[in-house]
Amino acid sequence: MIFLKNDYSLGAHPRILKALTDTNMVHTEGYGMDPFCEEAKILLKDLCETEDADIHFLTGGTSANLIALSAFLRPHHAILAADSAHICVHETGAIEATGHKVFHVPGHDGKILPRQIEEAVRLHINEHMVKPKLVYISNATEVGTIYTKEELSALRKICDKYDLYLYADGARLGCALTAEGNDVSLSDMAALTDAFYIGGTKNGALFGEALVILRQELKEDFRFHIKQRGGMLAKGRLLGVQFTELFRDGLYFQLARHANEMAQILQKGILGAGYECLTPSPTNQIFPIFPNTLIDHLQKTASFDIWEAYGDRASAVRLVASWGTSEEDVMEFLQSL
Ligand SMILES: Cc1ncc(COP(=O)(O)O)c(C=O)c1O
Repeated sequence: MIFLKNDYSLGAHPRILKALTDTNMVHTEGYGMDPFCEEAKILLKDLCETEDADIHFLTGGTSANLIALSAFLRPHHAILAADSAHICVHETGAIEATGHKVFHVPGHDGKILPRQIEEAVRLHINEHMVKPKLVYISNATEVGTIYTKEELSALRKICDKYDLYLYADGARLGCALTAEGNDVSLSDMAALTDAFYIGGTKNGALFGEALVILRQELKEDFRFHIKQRGGMLAKGRLLGVQFTELFRDGLYFQLARHANEMAQILQKGILGAGYECLTPSPTNQIFPIFPNTLIDHLQKTASFDIWEAYGDRASAVRLVASWGTSEEDVMEFLQSL
């Protein structure tokens, strides 16, 4: 079978495993207070071009989102997000379970627009309603699209106007930052958001995300929040080792670039064969629309998810490439198509 279902189906990139093995017999402090976490933080601060960031290593995307957002907000605060956002659709109400309303606005290619933020803020007029306080975006978005620097700057501006925090979920940030047409860097993410996370789980790590907190008032007591939400690993060193390996010489970007390249060969081949995509995506997730009969045929040799129905006889499917997808896999899929 050709595996195009997701980007977390393999264990970890061999270099990550080697780094874990090489450091296995070194005794360290627990709970992220070890030299490997320190080294990874230095590397990330350097790439983010900020000395001031607080960096915390967390285990997964849902956990990072819920620990961060619940720590950042007061009880009456609400979150604004595109209706397709991961926290709106695929996190089992994890954010709402912390007591915060997530206000959905219609997404545009997976993105939230400044004017929608403005409209949502204006709908919430007094203390009988929740108070919007944080805008959640993801880069890449749920449908594989990316934010430009101009779009991020416009979001920053509107957030400043209404005193809102801007938080970016970076489960697939590597793919966003290495996509063709991208003009955003890690340092731009640090300059334009109040907090964001750099996803490792979907980009070659065994598991793990690095949360970067930029705004001073959001940093206070954050480790207490991690611990109380069950997110503080006694063996936190495992995260430090992995992030050091991913960032010490650009492995993180190399793996993401490869995943994008494989997905783009797929997308080009599919478009060339006369099919359309739901939303053209420059990253490692693409969403072609195929007749259902063709999907049945393709599923005999390839594993992928059906995303949504498209009329009665066709569906959009999600094809995901990863650091482990080979060009042979991609060619075989196109051949089958
Ligand atoms: C944008 C985004 N955020 C968060 C998550 C959740 O991550 P996890 O499955 O590690 O909890 C995902 C998972 O695919 C995701 O795509």
